[in-house]
Amino acid sequence: MSIDADRRHFLTFLAGSPLLAAAGLDRSLLSRLLSAEARPQRGRDDHALHVVQDIRSAGEALDVFDFEPVARANMPVAHWGYLATGTDDDATIQANRQGFDRWAMRPRRLIDVSRLDTSVTWFGTRYPTPIVINPVGSQKAFHPLGELAVARAAKAKDHLMVLSTVATTSIEDAIDARGGPVWFQLYHQSDWAITRQMVKRMEKAGAPAIVFTVDLLGGSNRETMIREARKDTRTCTKCHLGGAPLPGVSGRVDDRDNRRKPNLVGYPKVTPIPEVGTPTWEFIDRLKQTTSMKVLVKGIVTSDDAELAVQHGVDGLFVSNHGGRAENSRRATITALPEVIRGTQGRIPVICDGGFRRGTDVFKAMALGATSIGIGRPYIWGLGAFGQEGVEAVLGLLRKEFEVAMKQSGTTSLAAITAKHITPA
Ligand SMILES: Cc1cc2nc3c(=O)[nH]c(=O)nc-3n(C[C@H](O)[C@H](O)[C@H](O)COP(=O)(O)O)c2cc1C
Repeated sequence: MSIDADRRHFLTFLAGSPLLAAAGLDRSLLSRLLSAEARPQRGRDDHALHVVQDIRSAGEALDVFDFEPVARANMPVAHWGYLATGTDDDATIQANRQGFDRWAMRPRRLIDVSRLDTSVTWFGTRYPTPIVINPVGSQKAFHPLGELAVARAAKAKDHLMVLSTVATTSIEDAIDARGGPVWFQLYHQSDWAITRQMVKRMEKAGAPAIVFTVDLLGGSNRETMIREARKDTRTCTKCHLGGAPLPGVSGRVDDRDNRRKPNLVGYPKVTPIPEVGTPTWEFIDRLKQTTSMKVLVKGIVTSDDAELAVQHGVDGLFVSNHGGRAENSRRATITALPEVIRGTQGRIPVICDGGFRRGTDVFKAMALGATSIGIGRPYIWGLGAFGQEGVEAVLGLLRKEFEVAMKQSGTTSLAAITAKHITPA
């Protein structure tokens, strides 16, 4: 149990004690202190004033934010830093949230909304919801079952799930736990032969699509992660060969230690070939020629790149800035979404991720032309707080809120949600 959690439990005990009243102390003051205590000091990424509940079970949560302090108290501070971090001063995390405030809803009345269809079909597979479980690396850093618990939640709630290259669960085990197809997110290796082997393995395992993440190719400066890791007094080298994280280290596959990354073990260590350089659109052509899986690109935020993606035969895009963990652009993904849609001209489907915390956020993205939306941190808060049950609760809350937003807007299917249902705020 972390010091934060101990302090919180002590304060909770005090707040409930009759001695407090007997001593003439103000119980409400202590309650306020307690809620401030439960609220993370750094890395908290909701911009609005929000009263965090002190929840003891997944079912008590009123919204996805309620899981955050519980997850934080449950995990080592360095792991919290990895989860919470953005880049530089974390401004793009804030920007992702604030982007939703630039859009307001235009509810429509007197439409029969008793029957809703929130389903979406991806490459022939129908999902009951457009909310996608995005790739998040190293999930056993947040809960002992990591991606297995998430895959089981994805199965229970029937969500599309994308597994990270740097997952702590293999693609084979994830597909088994999901009881159905899981997409694979690819971080390339500097040696093409090894990248090709990885791609072939994913194909054989039954992944129908590969998601190539392109927003970390320039590196990323994750200061919050390093600051939090410095507070961690445990010996990191027991698990991480490289010890504590370093400036400029993004947690990508060039990490020297792959022991806990089952999607990376088994490939021969090779010397990086610097003259090959970092991937360009030629790499996308190569991926397309190599695999029969659908190829999506994750990290596109401009119409220029969206047009190029279509030209190179990409099957779908993620409008993403890695949850504010790639470049510190200070530009919300919801702001970038319309120009990406313009670039694709509707020729390929688009998933938007970054800062989605409310059903109305999902609604706004659908109104701006997204096919689906992705979540990262919220389901990890659920995982860290209550394991599989927490993940399911997060998915359930977002779905419920989205359905309410649809009903309030008089929309009964995803296709019915149009640009006319929102307006600049
Ligand atoms: C701790 C953490 C690890 C992540 N790991 C990966 C990864 O391995 N591959 C990837 O493409 N994106 C990764 N992402 C980015 C997410 O897929 C997603 O783009 C982002 O979390 C969405 O923003 P949100 O966290 O505000 O929902 C990670 C995000 C977080 C928070």
